[in-house]
Amino acid sequence: MRIFRFNEIDSTNKYLKEREDLKDYDCVIAKTQTAGVGRRGNVWVSNEGMAIFSFALQEDKNLSLEEYMRLPLVAGISVLGGLKKIENLDYKFKWTNDIYIQDKKICGILVEKIRDFFIIGIGVNVNNDDFGYAQDKATSLKNITGKFYSTEDIIFCIINEFKKYFSENWEYVLKEINSYNYLKGKEIEIIKYGESLGSGIAKDIVYEGRLKVEIDGEEKLFNI
Ligand code: BTN
Repeated sequence: MRIFRFNEIDSTNKYLKEREDLKDYDCVIAKTQTAGVGRRGNVWVSNEGMAIFSFALQEDKNLSLEEYMRLPLVAGISVLGGLKKIENLDYKFKWTNDIYIQDKKICGILVEKIRDFFIIGIGVNVNNDDFGYAQDKATSLKNITGKFYSTEDIIFCIINEFKKYFSENWEYVLKEINSYNYLKGKEIEIIKYGESLGSGIAKDIVYEGRLKVEIDGEEKLFNI
């Protein structure tokens, strides 16, 4: 496992995507990002004090596309597991792959594909208390406990959890994920590409990683 460290970088995901000599579990860690990328092309505010990193996972041709579709969920439960090892708080898994605590987001995960590698980029609010435009919706470990943490300890704990969960039986991993399901029992509206697909009560996450939602007495499944 090679580790590349930067005080400042545009985006750790972009850095790995641009490396031609990528190896399995190459990892890049940065103190800040000037052009952090979020899901759906959003900007990811990347302040000092966050754990900002990406690692590469080489595609194994023996695994199916279905198995790789689970990666965002596996990454999510790995962040939850890693954080729990550092500070045992009441984290929740918000489908598809956000980790929440006290109803606020504590981390963001972006999985991308380049050649035969998946790039798993993770930003965890650790010692920072500035969350930019997401100020009301986000929190950090320090905000909750008042303590300072080693971001590198957190990063390696999360990667170790990922290695463990990625090699585990999916039924077991899914059970773990469902035991922390933040949305379960909540009234939610499913919005895709700005369009509402309906409102209902969220249930479990099912085998394919889809979320079951009861809408007008009928159970519907929504894709990752
Ligand atoms: C989200 O929109 O919730 C996902 C945010 C992912 C941010 C991380 S920070 C490390 C890595 N580098 C990036 O540019 N993005 C990811």
